[in-house]
Amino acid sequence: MEINEKISLVTGGASGLGKATLISLAAKGARTILADLPSEKSKMVAEEIGAFFIPMDVTSTEEVEEGLKNIKQKVGNIDICVNCAGIAPAAMTLGKNGPHDFDVYSKTIGVNLTGMFNVVRLTSAYMASNKPNNDGERGVIINTSSIASTDGQRGQVAYASSKAGVAGMTLPLARDLGRFGIRVVAICPGIFDTPMLKTVKEDVRDQLAESVVFPKRLGQPKEFAQLVNFLIECPYINGENIRLDGGLRMV
Ligand SMILES: NC(=O)c1ccc[n+]([C@@H]2O[C@H](COP(=O)([O-])OP(=O)(O)OC[C@H]3O[C@@H](n4cnc5c(N)ncnc54)[C@H](O)[C@@H]3O)[C@@H](O)[C@H]2O)c1
Repeated sequence: MEINEKISLVTGGASGLGKATLISLAAKGARTILADLPSEKSKMVAEEIGAFFIPMDVTSTEEVEEGLKNIKQKVGNIDICVNCAGIAPAAMTLGKNGPHDFDVYSKTIGVNLTGMFNVVRLTSAYMASNKPNNDGERGVIINTSSIASTDGQRGQVAYASSKAGVAGMTLPLARDLGRFGIRVVAICPGIFDTPMLKTVKEDVRDQLAESVVFPKRLGQPKEFAQLVNFLIECPYINGENIRLDGGLRMV
């Protein structure tokens, strides 16, 4: 699908990978919509990059429905949806203070997995009514999983299981939505230099960078955006989880 003029929704668009994606889609002529939690920061980022701002918590069906209705009325039907909203709390299954907090586990699944599915299911209903292009395409959905979906580390049980869920839904989503001309792909990023990683200490970040095969550094958000562009533009990619990690394998 060509990106120029396409209506493109990015959840988690106020920061990191989502923000870089919006900037690069806008540079290719897309009409961009930034969806994120309601905050002054989200509003300012949308203004800064010239995106239409839709405040929404992806876990709220009401807010997502309201946001999508708003987009339909004020901008038009969504052609491209990139799901980047996510959280990454760390905790051991059994730690110094006892068992893993159950609410933290449930919240992580709620935002990263259930929330992502919520956006996909509701957005696909709008996409299905798009006029197909010459290849029969009506929409492209790109979800963000993680290499933690297969290489989860200690302290990542909630995050890793949420991201394995995202990777697990790629093929059935593609199979369900293929008949409407909607492709679904997921990206599994390695370690990217975004605000999510800012809490990690400098020496740990250096160690992480050293463990990448090549290039020996953290990924740059614009490299994630580069892959997003390619996945949108190449019509034969569908139903796949693609690692973007400089060859890193976490053991
Ligand atoms: N940075 C990395 O190394 C890395 C690696 C693998 C996967 N990922 C995944 O990439 C995605 C983007 O991560 P990032 O590094 O840009 O993080 P980030 O923290 O910079 O951005 C995440 C954004 O999601 C938003 N968000 C959180 N909860 C939300 C909710 N309930 N509803 C709507 N928006 C919500 C936040 O407000 C924030 O703007 C996440 O899904 C993350 O798990 C990141």
